[in-house]
Amino acid sequence: MAGAGPTAVLSSGKKMPLLGLGTWQSTSEQVINAVKTAIDAGYRHIDTAWVYGNEKDVGQAIKEKIAEGKIKREDVFVTTKLFVTFLQPEHVREAMMQSLGSLGLDYVDLYLIHNPQGFKYGTNPREIFMPTGNIEDIFDEVDYVETWKAMESLADEGLAKSIGVSNFNTQQLERLLQNCRIKPAVNQVELHPYLAQPELVDFCKRNDILVTAFSALGAPARPKVFSSGDEEPVLMEDPSVVAIAKKYGKSAAQVLLRYHLDRGVSVIPKSVTPSRIQANFDVMDFSLSKEDLTSLGQLDRKLRLVGAKLFVKHKYYPY
Ligand SMILES: NC(=O)c1ccc[n+]([C@@H]2O[C@H](COP(=O)([O-])OP(=O)(O)OC[C@H]3O[C@@H](n4cnc5c(N)ncnc54)[C@H](OP(=O)(O)O)[C@@H]3O)[C@@H](O)[C@H]2O)c1
Repeated sequence: MAGAGPTAVLSSGKKMPLLGLGTWQSTSEQVINAVKTAIDAGYRHIDTAWVYGNEKDVGQAIKEKIAEGKIKREDVFVTTKLFVTFLQPEHVREAMMQSLGSLGLDYVDLYLIHNPQGFKYGTNPREIFMPTGNIEDIFDEVDYVETWKAMESLADEGLAKSIGVSNFNTQQLERLLQNCRIKPAVNQVELHPYLAQPELVDFCKRNDILVTAFSALGAPARPKVFSSGDEEPVLMEDPSVVAIAKKYGKSAAQVLLRYHLDRGVSVIPKSVTPSRIQANFDVMDFSLSKEDLTSLGQLDRKLRLVGAKLFVKHKYYPY
């Protein structure tokens, strides 16, 4: 994966570029340009999900870059996610096939259980994020260990080169580790200086699970339904982050990305703005000192910006 920036070897033995492009909330039109711009800038890792509704466009952009001769399929690491309405083991393969069909690929590099909390098969995602009725009526307490067994079968078949999870806590990971044949290669979670989760990161490191940080820039454009409702500080404007950025002649965003790379954590900033896509990848020429990493660590206020209050009553609520 030449030009991909730093990579990690997953427990599956596969290599994953640590810096990737996020695509949540990127519309079809935006994401085609974003993915192409990112590939031109050197990104070799794209993160999407069934529920983002843009797998088809992500796939099209990759296809165009392959046709141009810019990359080969094996040069780009594609992650997608099993949505919560497909956690029933009998629906896992169907969801995988839908995603592969949309992406126009015959395998993904990484397939993640999007969230440990299952919902009734066939539920419209809109009903989950903006319920018109009682949310508990659409919960499905399917055991994620059973979901995982079906994920293992996808890995056996070669449809997913690596498999992992997202939004799992340490207890849930522990339970999975005790009941799996194939270890989860990755746990993708919200992570940034306001939500540093040192115990979770250490647990994953000890168990050879690569952590991927989402909303690393503080998800400034997240939908209201995901925020806590209180006055929330703006991570990219935090005075300590801004001061550190000034010291290195970098932007706050670049420092927030480097913070993860310097902790051995993967990170997937989302942007549809070409200059930002470029700038977010332009973080390979510096690293943060131990002191600066420590002061960023001291900003921790256990502030979850995405998803904090949704589904608290679910049996497998992870936070
Ligand atoms: N597994 C999960 O449950 C989960 C949950 C959330 C996110 N994710 C993944 O993680 C990715 C990243 O997280 P996120 O989308 O929540 O938030 P994020 O990456 O923290 O923030 C994205 C926002 O920051 C802006 N931005 C990007 N680069 C910037 C820069 N250099 N300077 C100033 N603003 C900048 C973007 O604007 P423009 O696009 O307008 O440039 C966009 O509004 C997602 O896209 C998705 O792939 C996964």
